[in-house]
Amino acid sequence: MKTPNVLPASGRLGILTPGMGAVSTTFMAGVISARKGFTKPIGSLTEMGYIRLGKRTENRQSLIREFLPFTRLEDIVFGGWDIYSDNAYEAAANAKVLEKEHLEQVKDELSKVVPMSAVFDPAFVKNISGPNVKKGKTKFDLAQQLREDIRGFKKTNNCERLVMVWCGSTEAHLVAGAEHQTIEAFEKALMDNSPNIAPSMLYTYAAIMEGVPYVNGAPNLSVELPCLMKLAEDRGVPIAGSDFKTGQTLMKTIVAPGLKARLLGIAGWYSTNILGNRDGEVLQDPESFKSKEVSKLSVLDTVLEPERYPDLYGDLHHLVKINYYKPRGDNKEGWDNIDIFGWMGYPMQIKINFLCRDSILAAPLVLDLAQFMDLAARSGFSGIQEWLSFYLKSPLVKPGLRPEHDLQVQLLKLQNTLRFIGKEELINHLGLTYYGHDEGEASRIGN
Ligand SMILES: NC(=O)c1ccc[n+]([C@@H]2O[C@H](COP(=O)([O-])OP(=O)(O)OC[C@H]3O[C@@H](n4cnc5c(N)ncnc54)[C@H](O)[C@@H]3O)[C@@H](O)[C@H]2O)c1
Repeated sequence: MKTPNVLPASGRLGILTPGMGAVSTTFMAGVISARKGFTKPIGSLTEMGYIRLGKRTENRQSLIREFLPFTRLEDIVFGGWDIYSDNAYEAAANAKVLEKEHLEQVKDELSKVVPMSAVFDPAFVKNISGPNVKKGKTKFDLAQQLREDIRGFKKTNNCERLVMVWCGSTEAHLVAGAEHQTIEAFEKALMDNSPNIAPSMLYTYAAIMEGVPYVNGAPNLSVELPCLMKLAEDRGVPIAGSDFKTGQTLMKTIVAPGLKARLLGIAGWYSTNILGNRDGEVLQDPESFKSKEVSKLSVLDTVLEPERYPDLYGDLHHLVKINYYKPRGDNKEGWDNIDIFGWMGYPMQIKINFLCRDSILAAPLVLDLAQFMDLAARSGFSGIQEWLSFYLKSPLVKPGLRPEHDLQVQLLKLQNTLRFIGKEELINHLGLTYYGHDEGEASRIGN
């Protein structure tokens, strides 16, 4: 692949979120608050992160946003769809993530973000219903309406570019079938109103057809379908998924690679959560929970490779529970009990009690994913953006490739991709040149 010539981030970037609930409105509120100088965009790599450039002896560190062109927060415009008609201020107030004081500071701007009517199907999300829903004879009609929404939004808001990040409820678990294999079969299924086509797939299809990069922030199947991955590739549109990596899974992908690096065995990992937000309510439906469970369970297997290390991880008992418990609201509490064993098989235990705030952890991910996807598009990248695995629980990879779950490896991959885009030396951390060794071919890569 040739090093890309990245286009400038001129003009306005519209960030569209299907679903304007807790995550989406917390993201919007935080961006507005940061651009007004009330709070810092904490947790965002594109706003606060640095990247090392060149050899360590060069002492060159740059803010990522100064190294490559990104849209200024002032030039970001928000839009979205929801089955409820509440504007983003009302939805944020309902979600109860942010204190009144913070919401009032951004009330005027948030109130102007009014959701477009949603494509919704109660067969896929059981525990909620709302009035702001589109009507159409076929799913194909509904997809066309979404495409018109996208075009209309871009024009009305005078945006140069758009990105879409799914922040809607987790839909019921589905396995890809015949109608998801080719775009012809998929379009026919849209016209035939096939029950196997979920609303999120319509948003994805509409985004890709309109040339809008798409990220799936939930675990249900949408952009992961073979037909939509191929469509994105053919139309030159970047895609990424699935499921924001926050909370308990973030902790898992920090702790598990560390234990594996030291070859400590794991006999069991029991994870349980309580949360009381709308997401938690939706996840009470066993079919929506199934989507989440599959996404959460796959992480440990891929990190630990039990087939390669049967003595250490071959008999691991991994359980994940999520319980809806209303008093907690968005402030989820997660417990992990990890039964590990070391030298001569002696057992030990690790307990993690994470009192987190789900949407506070997810909001900066929405901003970074949108900015990086826009960068990818301006760099001429298309199809799966594996370098954004850093943000995702079930990273989308080319079929046949094993996803990389280790957070630190994911970060190195992300940083090297940025260096590649910025025409800087890649860094391999070999470091022998500092000690007078000849690294041969490898010395062409930074240390
Ligand atoms: N908060 C986190 O840390 C985190 C982590 C990983 C994944 N997620 C996922 O992100 C998504 C959003 O989470 P949240 O806490 O904001 O949930 P939420 O329930 O507060 O918001 C979701 C919104 O989506 C709307 N919606 C549902 N179906 C829709 C459709 N077809 N079209 C348009 N709108 C639709 C709902 O009305 C609701 O307002 C969920 O799927 C959740 O599982 C969240």
